[in-house]
Amino acid sequence: MRFESGRRVLEGLSAELSTRELTFVVGASGAGKSVLCRLAVGLVQPEAGRVELFGERVDRLPERALRTLRQRAPYLVQGPALLDWRTLRENVALAAPGASDDAVREALTLVGLEEAGDRLPTELGPGAKKRAAIARALVLKPEYLLLDEPTTGLDRRAAAQVEGVLASVKERGLGALVVSHDYRLLRRLADKVLVVSGGRSAFLGEPETFLASSEPELRALTEPFMESATDG
Ligand SMILES: Nc1ncnc2c1ncn2[C@@H]1O[C@H](COP(=O)(O)OP(=O)(O)OP(=O)(O)O)[C@@H](O)[C@H]1O
Ligand SMILES: [Mg+2]
Repeated sequence: MRFESGRRVLEGLSAELSTRELTFVVGASGAGKSVLCRLAVGLVQPEAGRVELFGERVDRLPERALRTLRQRAPYLVQGPALLDWRTLRENVALAAPGASDDAVREALTLVGLEEAGDRLPTELGPGAKKRAAIARALVLKPEYLLLDEPTTGLDRRAAAQVEGVLASVKERGLGALVVSHDYRLLRRLADKVLVVSGGRSAFLGEPETFLASSEPELRALTEPFMESATDG
């Protein structure tokens, strides 16, 4: 894909992922992980090549069909994603116009925030905010999730709560694309790992293989984080 700046990203990437699995996407900053998420749901168009999701050519879908696709596979952006002046209940309801009160309550319950529906995001810690953002995706009753760095910037306790939510999402049979360098999370939840490097797929396989690899390119990604992956 090429941006107007002339910058090319993900030029040689080819990967086939199962929407029934949790695939972790790993790669250096600027490797194109967020761009990959945006390509997957048609928020940006590739200059060349094809993007498929649920058997559909995402890069050829009209805007209306893309809106439906993004309900089936919501993309949780990196960073804050809530309206600070709206309660959690309103935040979740706004994500799915037409959703019943029960559906909104259920989504909040799934992330452990059933008691916090009347609170404002500003009254919550970063972990609860992240979980509320996940509730905004779950209220759509999605078939797949795209989560961009769901535990980045969270302390251990908040990250563990997000991990709990992702574990229960996984238990319900939902697959996800999770961009994350949180190897503790990866070790516990990933079915597959995709490494994006130099615009191509440098690795696609089991998390154990990734973490144990002696391949210099992979070592460079895993080594600095090994401590945080093994303790706790
Ligand atoms: N809209 C855009 N216009 C121009 N360049 C862009 C645009 N979006 C992303 N890029 C560039 O594409 C490259 C990949 O960006 P991307 O955000 O996908 O990286 P990333 O792997 O998610 O990095 P990080 O780990 O820091 O989040 C970067 O060099 C970025 O500057
Ligand atoms: Mg990113």
